[in-house]
Amino acid sequence: MPTLSDLVARHTALDEADLDWLHSLVSDWQLLADLSFADLILWAPLLGESGWIAIAQMRPTTGPTVYHDDIVGTVAAKGERALIDTAWNERRICREGDPDWSTGVPVREETIPVRRAVEGGEGRFLAVIQRSTNLSSARTPSRLELTYLQSASDLAQMVAEGRFPFSGEEPILVRSPRVGDGLLRLDRAGRVTYASPNALSAYRRLGLHADLVGAELGRVTATLCYSDEPINEDLMIVASGRAAKETEVESGGTIVQLRAIPLIVGGGRIGALVLIRDVTELRRRERELMTKDATIREIHHRVKNNLQTVAALLRLQARRLQVPEGREALEEAVRRVGSIAIVHETLSHAPEEFVDFDEIADRVIAMAGEVSSPEVAVTPRRVGGFGVLPSLIATPLAMALTELLQNALQHGRPKRLEVVVESAHERLNVTVWDDGRGLPGGFDLDSSTSLGLQIVRTLVEGELSGRLTIEPRLEGGTEVALSIPLPPG
Ligand SMILES: Nc1ncnc2c1ncn2[C@@H]1O[C@H](COP(=O)(O)OP(=O)(O)OP(=O)(O)O)[C@@H](O)[C@H]1O
Ligand SMILES: [Mg+2]
Repeated sequence: MPTLSDLVARHTALDEADLDWLHSLVSDWQLLADLSFADLILWAPLLGESGWIAIAQMRPTTGPTVYHDDIVGTVAAKGERALIDTAWNERRICREGDPDWSTGVPVREETIPVRRAVEGGEGRFLAVIQRSTNLSSARTPSRLELTYLQSASDLAQMVAEGRFPFSGEEPILVRSPRVGDGLLRLDRAGRVTYASPNALSAYRRLGLHADLVGAELGRVTATLCYSDEPINEDLMIVASGRAAKETEVESGGTIVQLRAIPLIVGGGRIGALVLIRDVTELRRRERELMTKDATIREIHHRVKNNLQTVAALLRLQARRLQVPEGREALEEAVRRVGSIAIVHETLSHAPEEFVDFDEIADRVIAMAGEVSSPEVAVTPRRVGGFGVLPSLIATPLAMALTELLQNALQHGRPKRLEVVVESAHERLNVTVWDDGRGLPGGFDLDSSTSLGLQIVRTLVEGELSGRLTIEPRLEGGTEVALSIPLPPG
């Protein structure tokens, strides 16, 4: 499916600035579709003005669509769609007298020329919007529908005059309120002339008891949301409909998003639309998630600190011991605790469910290399990557690695020591091999009772549901292989 940019570049003579204008138009024209209860198609003139190409399409969320198929990419020759030609040639909004029945339902067609404002000039005409209303469900319009349609026609006028979309409006990151969320129409003085039921409910929740229609929205909103905190400067500007802007107001635990669309037609400000959306629940969930994240991060941070304290205590005691074995044992405990601390440190930066295990592995490998006895002159190396792993796997895997590296350095005294990682078929295969002195004669993993390999076995077979083998290498040295299933995804 070609994008708007692709189509414009390939089939039209429009330039960069034109394209920017059209981009901001289509990022905001849902508003026009919803207020019109109509489908919109944006037609751009083909190179050489031989006809038209549909470069964007929007359906209304407030009413039935006319086009169930995608229209984008469709080409119409000159003369084929008279209404588009007329809007373009005469630079004005055109409306068909009678409904068109060619699609099987009655459709009212209108066309709106799109003008890009150019400073100090008349502007440039870029394209034509075809607005098609499915009349099959039309009935006597309500006050709401009349207000929507009037607002749609003001907005269409603004498109033709180069006043909509609003240039320089900040990009909207969170979804802006839509017509269906709640709509107010203001007159030139900022007084409410119409309030949709949803908009009224939002103001009720903000604490309004009086009538909204007839009230000055800026003043009402400021009074409702009065607080000791510094005044929200945007509040008055938005709630009075004076600038195209968004803001959020809060009162009595309710948070409401306001978006003002000033209506400027025929050179004068005739009023404004204010779209309103109650975002209380949304914001509450966001805040909850944020505090949850922060809490988890803090917990990992504390666990890491505590582990480091434990390691420091053990190190202190090791230094005082005169018995070499006792000393070694304590130093090993320091390393074991240290490798768990590394995992928690990584998790305290990223409390997500996944961690970049390469970072953890490299630190565990570096730590093993650093603390090995000085007569072993080898720098352990990692070959291949672990990638991103579930954090549940990270702690046991880091501890197992620590033990295996430790063994190779301590018992093998190798010249080369490598951790080789491969992942295939949702399994992670890790080999720790060295070219050292090899396993002692008669070695048997199952009958080995020393602590290190017991730890590794418990972790790999128990916690990681994996397999562990330890074998002599043909070339000399030892190879330990772990195979761990990874959760799918
Ligand atoms: N890479 C290796 N090269 C040579 N021998 C090894 C290697 N890995 C393990 N071994 C042998 O296996 C034995 C058991 O290892 P294990 O880690 O269980 O205990 P340990 O290292 O002796 O003591 P600790 O409990 O402090 O780890 C070791 O004593 C050693 O003889
Ligand atoms: Mg060991």
